[in-house]
Amino acid sequence: MKALVAGSGGREHAIAWALAKSPQVSQVVCVPGNGGTAGEPKCVNVPARDGEDFDGAVCRIARRESCDFAVIGPEDPLARGLADRLRGEGIPVAGPGKDAARLESSKDFAKSFMARHGVASARSRTFLSASEARSYVETLAPPVVIKADGLAAGKGVVVAPDKETALGALTRFMEEGALGDAGRKILVEDFLSGPEYSVLAAVSVSRQKNTASILPFLPARDHKRLLTGNRGPNTGGMGAVCPVPDVTEAALEEFHRAILQPTLGGLVAEGIDYEGFIFFGVILTGGGSKLLEYNARLGDPETQAVLPLMESDFASLCLALIGGGLGDFKLSWKKGAVCAPVAVSGGYPGAYKTGFPIDLGDVPGGAKIFVSGARQQDGGLVTAGGRVLAASAWGREPEEARELAYRTLRGVRFKDLYFRTDIGTAPRV
Ligand code: GLY
Repeated sequence: MKALVAGSGGREHAIAWALAKSPQVSQVVCVPGNGGTAGEPKCVNVPARDGEDFDGAVCRIARRESCDFAVIGPEDPLARGLADRLRGEGIPVAGPGKDAARLESSKDFAKSFMARHGVASARSRTFLSASEARSYVETLAPPVVIKADGLAAGKGVVVAPDKETALGALTRFMEEGALGDAGRKILVEDFLSGPEYSVLAAVSVSRQKNTASILPFLPARDHKRLLTGNRGPNTGGMGAVCPVPDVTEAALEEFHRAILQPTLGGLVAEGIDYEGFIFFGVILTGGGSKLLEYNARLGDPETQAVLPLMESDFASLCLALIGGGLGDFKLSWKKGAVCAPVAVSGGYPGAYKTGFPIDLGDVPGGAKIFVSGARQQDGGLVTAGGRVLAASAWGREPEEARELAYRTLRGVRFKDLYFRTDIGTAPRV
C-alpha cells in the first residue's frame, strides 16, 4: 500500500515515520517532505514542479504514484479544500474537507459551534466593526483576548493585559490590515488562566457511511514561549510531552463530557462530515476544563511526542477512520512517556539565518530526531527553517524521557542552535 503525506514540517516527518513503520505500507510519498523524510526508510520526497501550486501538485502526485490514501498535515491546504479535491479524484484522505476545517479556519465559526452545542469555553463576542469592538472592550476588565477570525500563522491571538494593548490590537487587525483578511473580523474573549494541554483525536463522521466516532489520543502539552521558564515571545512550539502528569483522570473525564462528546454531537447534528484528525487546545481553569481552540489537524510539535507512544498501527488507524471502521478500532499505547524538545535557529521567531550544516551526533536507542526545518545538501542536513528539529525520546517515567531527550539534543550541533531546557517541567500557562 502506498501512502501520501502532504506537508514539510516536523509533524509530517512524524506522520511519515509512523506510516512507514506499518507492515501494510510499502512506500510513503512525501509532498514535498523535508530533510528528515528524505532519509527515512520507505519514504520518498516528491517536490511540486516549478510554478505548480501545492494542492495541484499533491493531487497530480497522488494520481501518478497511485497512492492508496493521503494524510494532510498543515492547516492551510485543509482550509483551502485539498481534502475535498483529493476525494473528488477518488483518493481516500485522512483530513477534513473545507467545510469541516472551518473549525480551525474561522474562529467565529468555531465559537458559535461551541455555543450551539454546549462545548465548555470562554465567553466571546464577534465584531466586524472596529468601533463596536472598542466599545465592548471598554466595558470589560482586562486582561482580555483579541482573536483574529482567520488563519494567521500563530499571530492572530493577543492576550491583552490592559485596555491600551487590546485597543491597539483591534486597530492593527481591523483597520490597518496587519493580518490581511484574516483580521477584518475579530473576536473579543474573556481571559482564562490555568495550565494548558492538547488532545489530538481521530474522527470519523460521515452521513454516507453512517459513522459517528471520535477516538482521543493520550493528552500532550506544547510549550509555546521561546525561553526557558515560559518567558519570551510565542513561537510555533518549543517542545512537547506526552502524556501530561498534571492532567488527572478526573480532568480527562470532564474533558470528555464537556468538550469531546458535545463536539462529536455537534458535528453529527449539523451534518458536518469529518474524516480526519482534530486537535483540542484545552485550559484547566478553576472552573474546570474549557476549550480554547480546535485545529482541524494533528498538532505540531505534539505529534512528535504522541505518535512515538502509539502502539497501534498508525496506517491502520488512518484506514479505519477513512473506511468507516473507527468505531471498532482499539487504540493501544506503550507504557511510559515521551519528551520532545525542539532545537531552533538563533533569532527565531524573529529573523534567522539558514544553510548551516547539522551534525546529529550519536542518536541513542529510545530517541528519534524529527526534522522540521532542514533540507538535505551534499549528503548531509543543513538548516532551512526557524524550528529545525525535535529530539523525541521515550522513558519509563517522564523524567527518564526528559533526560534521554536532552542527552540527544545536546549531541546535536549547528550554528546558533537554541533550545529550552525545561520541556516537560513547566506547565504551559
Ligand atoms: N501546537 C499547537 C498547534 O499545533 O497548533
